[in-house]
Amino acid sequence: TNLNILIQRSNHTQATSEPPEVTVFPKEPVELGQPNTLICHIDKFFPPVLNVTWLRNGQPVTEGVSETIFLPRTDYSFHKFHYLTFMPLTDDVYDCKVDHWGLDKPLVGHW
Ligand SMILES: *[C@@H]1O[C@H](CO)[C@@H](O)[C@H](O)[C@H]1NC(C)=O
Ligand SMILES: *[C@@H]1O[C@H](CO)[C@@H](O)[C@H](O)[C@H]1NC(C)=O
Repeated sequence: TNLNILIQRSNHTQATSEPPEVTVFPKEPVELGQPNTLICHIDKFFPPVLNVTWLRNGQPVTEGVSETIFLPRTDYSFHKFHYLTFMPLTDDVYDCKVDHWGLDKPLVGHW
């Protein structure tokens, strides 16, 4: 299915890059000290190639992370979810940094 989408897509638009939109939000209502999950929704991009990094206070985080596959949208672009389990504390700042060929510099979703 994905290959068919790619073939159709490349014929229709000659494979122009479409940069993603990035949104970061918590899965559950946030309560300090209650474990939660941050969701990074990366939407409307093509081709399906991304570099995604979670940052806590500017430092890369590799534990407690997971992600979906590239999910096709009806318009032949893609979307994808990255997840980070976290413990809400007042001073922590979280970023979902997304790099894509359609972007001049990485796009950062803050929470
Ligand atoms: C895509 O374009 C090529 C070259 O013009 C053509 O041979 C091929 O049949 C097209 N594929 C589709 C799925 O339209
Ligand atoms: C992802 O990172 C690698 C290594 O830094 C780089 O070569 C590649 O171009 C990047 N891909 C995107 C889509 O930014």
